[in-house]
Amino acid sequence: MMINYLHKFRLDKKTAYVIGGLGLIGKEISKAYAMAGAKVIILDVKKKEGILFEEKMQNLGYKLKYIYFDCSKTKNLEKNFLKILRNYGKPNIFTNCSYPQTKDWSKNSFDKITYNSLRKNIDIHLNSYIWLAKLVAERMVKNKDSGSIIQLSSIYGLVGQDTNIYKNTKMKENLSYSVIKGGIINLTRQMASYYGKFNIRVNSICPGAIKGHVAGLQLKQDSNFIKQYSKSLQRFQDCIINENSIMSNKSYSWSFQ
Ligand SMILES: NC(=O)c1ccc[n+]([C@@H]2O[C@H](COP(=O)([O-])OP(=O)(O)OC[C@H]3O[C@@H](n4cnc5c(N)ncnc54)[C@H](O)[C@@H]3O)[C@@H](O)[C@H]2O)c1
Repeated sequence: MMINYLHKFRLDKKTAYVIGGLGLIGKEISKAYAMAGAKVIILDVKKKEGILFEEKMQNLGYKLKYIYFDCSKTKNLEKNFLKILRNYGKPNIFTNCSYPQTKDWSKNSFDKITYNSLRKNIDIHLNSYIWLAKLVAERMVKNKDSGSIIQLSSIYGLVGQDTNIYKNTKMKENLSYSVIKGGIINLTRQMASYYGKFNIRVNSICPGAIKGHVAGLQLKQDSNFIKQYSKSLQRFQDCIINENSIMSNKSYSWSFQ
């Protein structure tokens, strides 16, 4: 008998929440979940784009709903999120690929950053990732559901930024980014170690730079950055081999690009 391997990846009757589901990465994740049969709920700040994307996907026969949600509104984060869960149903899969940031994000380099901006960015990005993932996991435990939580970190949560790749560009290293993405990786480890016994899988994805716009902004990537980044890839590869060699806990795994 032939095994239909693709069937093993089907997500029929599953609900998948994607925070930041209208971004470069989030949109592709949302499409993939919808095509695998899941009911997809996108939470994002881009209202117009959300409505258009929902319409397009529904016209193609997919179950996808867009809801306005701003995870930088940290005062009401828990209240707003729990209200959405009550109205649209519990997630079986929860993916956070949002990229909240302050207006002065590009000034988060060592020589320009202010203490206020560091605190604010950690609050709206790292703390919102932590709190939403915790709320979802606790809901899964309460309902005795198994589930999967996936959080977007970055290669820069694993290694310090190679400052050579910013030479002759307007870009700079970003202190907050490395701290936030490193925090998300250890959040994942801590959650996997605690929630594994409840059959909840917790994973982090740590991509390298993806060709497209500058993440979080609509600016095109600088050609010098692309050239210099490509040269820097060997260093990332070394780090990936080291990380993989110390992974032994089955309750979490890692994906790299
Ligand atoms: N693109 C890359 O090269 C790359 C590399 C490594 C890691 N990442 C990580 O992957 C994730 C997604 O990156 P991307 O390239 O798709 O970014 P993106 O800017 O294209 O998408 C981010 C999405 O988050 C949404 N968002 C921003 N602020 C929000 C808020 N306050 N509340 C709700 N939604 C909000 C945006 O509207 C957007 O749709 C980020 O966490 C980023 O750090 C990206």
